[in-house]
Amino acid sequence: MLTGAGISAESGVPTFRDAGGLWEGHRVEDVATPEAFERDPDTVHRFYDARRRALARVEPNPAHEALARLERAMGDDLLVVTQNVDDLHERAGSRRVLHMHGDLLTARCTRCDARSPVAADLIERPPCPECGERMLRPDVVWFGEMPYDLDEIDEALLACDAFAAIGTSGAVYPAAGFVMSAASFGARTIELNLAASEITPLFEDVRHGPASVVVPVWVDELLASHG
Ligand code: APR
Repeated sequence: MLTGAGISAESGVPTFRDAGGLWEGHRVEDVATPEAFERDPDTVHRFYDARRRALARVEPNPAHEALARLERAMGDDLLVVTQNVDDLHERAGSRRVLHMHGDLLTARCTRCDARSPVAADLIERPPCPECGERMLRPDVVWFGEMPYDLDEIDEALLACDAFAAIGTSGAVYPAAGFVMSAASFGARTIELNLAASEITPLFEDVRHGPASVVVPVWVDELLASHG
């Protein structure tokens, strides 16, 4: 299961490329590259600090809750790989979640590489709990950086018999290529998205509509068919 910003849209978390999305209000070059952080860390911190505060004010929606229900039924046979840096899957009860683009609630020390829960706005330069240096960055994968957990994800794509993508535009690789890998290993594929995406033609099955509506319906069908 791959999820993107669209699954959190109805919780009030802006997507990136839709009307009013994050990349309309901010230039990627200013807030989402290592070069931007090198050049102007305050602008980068201000962007992620604001997103972190906004995240504390929102809740999971029925799409997140439906996937948590599915995990309770399927156990280790379900893996959620998310491009999202929010914690709404976990707050809805999902346990088996890989954040391939990082985690907004975690900081990473650029001196000792330790990861730690964010305890204060990073623009205030809180010290790293491990080494004490004030050189923390958001633990988010920026453009030009390698996503996390790719080996584990490749193993899951090889082994899965069904692959679903929820709320992603298919604009960013390697995530946008997962459907092709899964299909090449024989998995059934389905896209659940508000509207057609850049990768819709690659899926066997598509369900278009708001995630909070189409995901619970699809999950109920799966649970009913598995009895
Ligand atoms: N329900 C379902 N899908 C939705 C909803 C909704 N309520 N609202 C929007 N969508 C769909 C849009 O139609 C679009 O296809 O979600 C998708 C969001 O696309 P993007 O904004 O491009 O987000 P995403 O695909 O997650 O971006 C991938 O790009 O900017 C980087 O690192 C960032 O992880 C992100 C990656």
